Amino acid sequence: MLITEEIQKLKKEKNAVILAHYYVKPEIQKIADYIGDSFYLSKKAVELKEQTIVFCGVSFMGESAKLLNPEKRVLMPDSDADCPMAHMVAEETIEKMRNQYEDLAVVCYINSTAKLKACSDVCVTSANAVKIVKELPNKNIFFIPDRNLAHFVAEQVPEKNFIFNEGYCPVHEQMKIEEVRTLKVRYPKAKVAAHPECPSSLIALADYVGSTTGIIQYVKNMDEDECIVCTENGVLYELQKENPKKRFYFTKTEPVCADMKLITLEKILHVLKTGENEVTVSEDLSVRAKKPLEQMLKLAK
Ligand code: 13P
Ligand code: SF4
Repeated sequence: MLITEEIQKLKKEKNAVILAHYYVKPEIQKIADYIGDSFYLSKKAVELKEQTIVFCGVSFMGESAKLLNPEKRVLMPDSDADCPMAHMVAEETIEKMRNQYEDLAVVCYINSTAKLKACSDVCVTSANAVKIVKELPNKNIFFIPDRNLAHFVAEQVPEKNFIFNEGYCPVHEQMKIEEVRTLKVRYPKAKVAAHPECPSSLIALADYVGSTTGIIQYVKNMDEDECIVCTENGVLYELQKENPKKRFYFTKTEPVCADMKLITLEKILHVLKTGENEVTVSEDLSVRAKKPLEQMLKLAK
């Protein structure tokens, strides 16, 4: 039996469903029941009827799915798949800002640990951050952990006072502006679509800035046949599937998230068979970390 057939068979037997982020390898996206960006996947996680969720992504994604569905079993194909940015602020720093600023909202990018979410007022993803920050009654916004997304949101919401944190995504941060410029010269008709985790100097070159799903939608609707894509290269699978006639270019130093690429078919099969790598969150932490996630789902409606 093929490994993909084995996975499908076990999935039925175990009443399981497979969720995958667009950054995982194409063969994983092919067998997933639902593929999406972080916002779509967190919304989807609360609608599922299956008892077990196999989350093909990094740890904050599985953790968020567990926080929103404490009664479900969430399995991670590789428990080492972690997002470095998710740890890039100290709880003490949040505490310090709360003491320093009145009328402060701590806005936490979903790419963060449950401990950081528990210290925050509301979560956001790259797809809904602008909308949610606009709706907050507070004047002061401490945006954690990503400085690049924070700067992008701050530009769209000038009426708020932003306090920035120095976290970043190593994959988007290391994208080279010169390499984007070279592509623009080589393909002058191509549009540039960028993820807001990119540095502001790169975002300044973009025709469109948005979440992974936002970029996919933009490319689908654009009239041009070519696009320079400034985000993790896993999106190429969906872009080519949806737009077989369009051409896509990535920077020479290709943006690859090594953690997302840890997910393999063999590991999915293994966790389905054994139930290993189950996500657990303590009761106390779960209660506190769930609140800002639920607040996000409410405000993003
Ligand atoms: P989105 O899924 O919000 O586009 O974020 C990208 C990302 O870095 C996920 O880890
Ligand atoms: Fe984290 Fe960046 Fe990988 Fe997304 S692409 S999981 S933000 S390291």
